[in-house]
Amino acid sequence: MRVKVLYFGLIHDLTGVAEQHLELSEGESVEALWRECAKRFPRLGEAAGSLLCAVNQEVAQRSQTLRDGDEVAFLPPVSGGSSEDFFRLTREPIPTADLTRQLKAPKDGAVVVFEGIVRDHSHGRRTLYLEYEAYEPMAIRKMEEIGIEARRQYDIDRVGIIHRLGRLEIGETSVAIFVTAAHRRAAFKACHYAIDRLKQTVPIWKREYFEDGAVWAEGERGSFADRGRLTIEPAPRQESETGRSKPLLQRDVAVAGRRPARNGHSSDYLTPAIEIAREAGALLAELFQQPHEITYKRRSDLLTEADRRSEALIVERLRARFPDHAVVAEEGSNHEADSGFCWYVDPLDGTTNFAHGFPMFCVTLGLAFRGEVVAGVVYDPTREELFTVEKGAGAFLNQRRLSVSKVVKLSESLVATGFPPFATNHDLNIQFYFRFTELSHGIRRAGSAALDLCSVAAGRFDGFWELKLNPWDKAAGSLLVSEAGGRVTDIAGKPFKLLGDDVFASNGHIHEQMVEVFSEVLTRRVR
Ligand code: IPD
Ligand code: CA
Ligand code: CA
Repeated sequence: MRVKVLYFGLIHDLTGVAEQHLELSEGESVEALWRECAKRFPRLGEAAGSLLCAVNQEVAQRSQTLRDGDEVAFLPPVSGGSSEDFFRLTREPIPTADLTRQLKAPKDGAVVVFEGIVRDHSHGRRTLYLEYEAYEPMAIRKMEEIGIEARRQYDIDRVGIIHRLGRLEIGETSVAIFVTAAHRRAAFKACHYAIDRLKQTVPIWKREYFEDGAVWAEGERGSFADRGRLTIEPAPRQESETGRSKPLLQRDVAVAGRRPARNGHSSDYLTPAIEIAREAGALLAELFQQPHEITYKRRSDLLTEADRRSEALIVERLRARFPDHAVVAEEGSNHEADSGFCWYVDPLDGTTNFAHGFPMFCVTLGLAFRGEVVAGVVYDPTREELFTVEKGAGAFLNQRRLSVSKVVKLSESLVATGFPPFATNHDLNIQFYFRFTELSHGIRRAGSAALDLCSVAAGRFDGFWELKLNPWDKAAGSLLVSEAGGRVTDIAGKPFKLLGDDVFASNGHIHEQMVEVFSEVLTRRVR
């Protein structure tokens, strides 16, 4: 049988890995598993006596028999708290006043209490009620660690943390933190620290119930989920049983929906974006078969009816689904909002190809939160390739996880670039083009920047650069590359800016070599 083992805290430090899968004989116990782990990681002996074990998220005895597929966690001890400190999970209402009274002592000059309350709305939707669940043994350990760290950092007397689980109604207290201290400043600071850390590190999940369904709520940046130890699984979605293209769509949506909600931006956003991109892609595929009426935005900057109709469809759907999100779309159907979320939309990336009947074009939607791309979709209807990405949760092509290529030498790479139809710096890019043609296996100029970036994410290209791209061309693609393990910067190797001009994405291995070439060409040109 095969079991999954999770190592936390000090145990993680001793093994150097957060999790692993081990083969054991049928009927073996937790104790036998522990011996097997200690054989592989001799340093585990240092912590042997004091461990708590959990099997499938329940505290377990060492003698417990394991079954195939079990998840076993080894939770290290924590120390350093005061005997009056408390760290609890409860399914009953939190008695804030009683707990405050219990914690206060004559030497205290201050008690600071923070209560988190169930709000009646979220992202513009009316919340009906919430449900919390936790990986309980680990949650308690993590809360203890927060208490110890708060004590270490601030001059406080006692600390208590309690979190409610199960169903909570609007207005009820979901979490309370209590800190007592001789002086108010330390108590305030420690309390603030504790609630922030709790949100980031304690494995407690919130499911929000709205009138039109339920979602797992976002975690916080740097959360334990970001470190890849546990996944958060939204409820499975139904699969369709009829039709050809529909099941594909439904399956993609379901798979995206099963991915963990990480870094605060889950398939809540991605699932509708996939549906919208699919619908717009189908429209483009249909219009591609018909004669196109071409107009010009500028000289050689083409516009077809397909650009306009695809954009109208996408923006209408986005506005209906996310009324409080801003939208910036290439053909101008913009919408402002101050939620911090903004969709960058290219309704048809590869218009020139499309207009000439060259089948290399796509729809792309990228979602940024306060300027940072957090999710994206690129759909190529010609090849039925759906690229999806969420920050922290990986990049996928038709459900398959993507990884950039392993090519380490520029001389063995295939790279790509593009030339915007209206820019004035073609001569510079021609020089880059010339130089990289000499130095690599060759250059492709396929005519869709979003697909070029997808090709880097998929390991088809080893690098791609362009000097003047708009945010809608690169939002989704840049995140796809970084989530596939690649690197995205500008051509000088400085941090990527969504609203900047140039972009340079690569598999990471040949990044510095290419930056050097850009720099050489630029230097030569200046002289
Ligand atoms: C263009 C394509 C092209 C790139 C241009 C973009 P459009 O987008 O992505 O590959 O070289 O810079 O403007 O006009 O087809 O949406
Ligand atoms: Ca474009
Ligand atoms: Ca376009």
